[in-house]
Amino acid sequence: MGAYSDIQKRRTIRIFQQKTVPFSLLKKCVNAARLSPSACNTQSLRFVAVNDLKVVAELDKAVYFGGVVKEKGRKEGEEPKAFIAILVDKEKKSKYTSIDVGIAAEAITLVALEAGVACCMMGAIQKERIKGILGIPNGFEVPLVVALGYPAEKPVLEGPTKDLFYWIDLKGELHVPKLSLEEVLHRNRFREGD
Ligand SMILES: Cc1cc2nc3c(=O)[nH]c(=O)nc-3n(C[C@H](O)[C@H](O)[C@H](O)COP(=O)(O)O)c2cc1C
Repeated sequence: MGAYSDIQKRRTIRIFQQKTVPFSLLKKCVNAARLSPSACNTQSLRFVAVNDLKVVAELDKAVYFGGVVKEKGRKEGEEPKAFIAILVDKEKKSKYTSIDVGIAAEAITLVALEAGVACCMMGAIQKERIKGILGIPNGFEVPLVVALGYPAEKPVLEGPTKDLFYWIDLKGELHVPKLSLEEVLHRNRFREGD
């Protein structure tokens, strides 16, 4: 266990077991996000953590899952069991805020993973609808939500493909291509074809 092996293990999950995610874990995830770096220490983010199943079901209808869920539709019994909505206080927003949001989302994801809970970060969301469901005032934006639950799929990590799209095989398994380390890493200075 450790950051590197957790990051290697982490995959986006969109199909979940129907096991409750305890609020104590959501609290721990948000605490990790709270302690994460933010540009100029602005701390412009707030969080709504939800494991009330009625509200979770409403949120599930206001987000767009890719992968098998997109191809075959959300089946009953596969839904996420919690959400954490990441809010931005508009008054404290800066040009770096979206970076802060990403860092917070990764902290949430890694703390959840440690407890066996998987996540899907979600930017394709109906923001106004989510604000309505959660009673979020106008002074806040919702750039990203994180869906959480115990995983019921095991995506396979693949080497790079031309288009880098993830794909579903005949068994319904998700395959996720990643660029190679050689392709993304330059040693000491940027060199074309390095
Ligand atoms: C900022 C951001 C927004 C995302 N939005 C969505 C989304 O709306 N729906 C979805 O199903 N997946 C979403 N994803 C998940 C990506 O599709 C996923 O990270 C990518 O396919 C790579 O898979 P991996 O996370 O297993 O490495 C998002 C990821 C990020 C970082």
